[in-house]
Amino acid sequence: MFTNQHHLKHLLRPHHYTSEEQYRAELRHLFQPAWHPVATTSDLARPGDFITLDLLETPFIIRNFDGELRAFLNVCPHRHSKLTEKPRGHAEKLRCQYHGWEFNKDGGTGKIPDAKVFRPWDRENSCLKKFRVDTCGDLVFVNFSASGPGLREWLAPVWDVWRHYGGAYRHAATWEKEFACNWKVVLENSLESYHIPEVHPHTFKEFPAEENVWHELTERFSSFKTLPPSDFAGRAQAWMVRRMGQPVTNEYWHQVLHPHATGSSLDSFRMMQCVFPTGPATCRYRCIFFTLRGTRTNPLAWVLYRTLKSIATAIGKKVFAEDGSIYLGIQRGMEASPFPGVIGTREERVYQFQKYVLDNTKGPRELPQAPAPSEPTPVCAG
Ligand code: FES
Ligand SMILES: [Fe+2]
Repeated sequence: MFTNQHHLKHLLRPHHYTSEEQYRAELRHLFQPAWHPVATTSDLARPGDFITLDLLETPFIIRNFDGELRAFLNVCPHRHSKLTEKPRGHAEKLRCQYHGWEFNKDGGTGKIPDAKVFRPWDRENSCLKKFRVDTCGDLVFVNFSASGPGLREWLAPVWDVWRHYGGAYRHAATWEKEFACNWKVVLENSLESYHIPEVHPHTFKEFPAEENVWHELTERFSSFKTLPPSDFAGRAQAWMVRRMGQPVTNEYWHQVLHPHATGSSLDSFRMMQCVFPTGPATCRYRCIFFTLRGTRTNPLAWVLYRTLKSIATAIGKKVFAEDGSIYLGIQRGMEASPFPGVIGTREERVYQFQKYVLDNTKGPRELPQAPAPSEPTPVCAG
């Protein structure tokens, strides 16, 4: 059932999808305080494993130090080189690629080649900049603010769901793509099922009847639940799930924690998607995909796991590409549109999201915990 009975106002205007000023306000008030899902614990399983990413104008590195994950700005305090350009890897030490300075898990310096030439030691300006990093299930989150809610508090409405990303579900693939559209185009598309017949005519075919839709709308998040039709694919999935030792719910869930983290699931998979603005009219959409491994270890369960992983990942990427095919057309239309826009009740989650964006980037309810991007953050203490 939809929560609203009448159409809703399109709260955001086309300029909210194109202006530099709005982009800056969103970076500061929506993204700076947020926790971002960026990797899985399996990406960083061994001491010395690291990944690097460049998101929200911030290059960062997350590394496993003897079982502890630590995150830093991927910039060397010596003469500003990125510590490494590799997207991922394994190294005995965290060492800068330029002159070989080494750093410990607190961001302080370890071995420095020809260290005597730096006497007296400028301790204050020689530490890596730290970021907060934490996990929920197998998902690794990073936060670029020195203060603000911890991960569990931030994820409160979805913590109990997302902590099961992992467990019976195993990381199958991570993929991402840059799109020439504002990040809200991507997010709003994910928030409504109305586009299904036009954009997903073969994968999803039709949007569900209103009686088969459950929306929950809150300030922090919104969710969508439906029971997919019991067709051949649905019955085959249920058969496989049962044989892998997992209960069958037959429920499809889609939850968006504002501003940008999206979890969706069927019994056969768990998917975490996150869209990051890279400019007023560009973004990067990242998807971390898990498929069911279940609890059974017999040969049939193993074969089903491998089969499901391959089929579900292929479908996940196909749907991602189908949605991706529409973003540029929306952005181009947005740039030329004289209309205010209209939102139907089936799209009410879009309205909820737009209200969140407006409330938190303009007017009296600016987030108090959002620090200015230029605010200095403490350097290493150790
Ligand atoms: S810039 Fe990193 S060691 Fe010199
Ligand atoms: Fe879609």
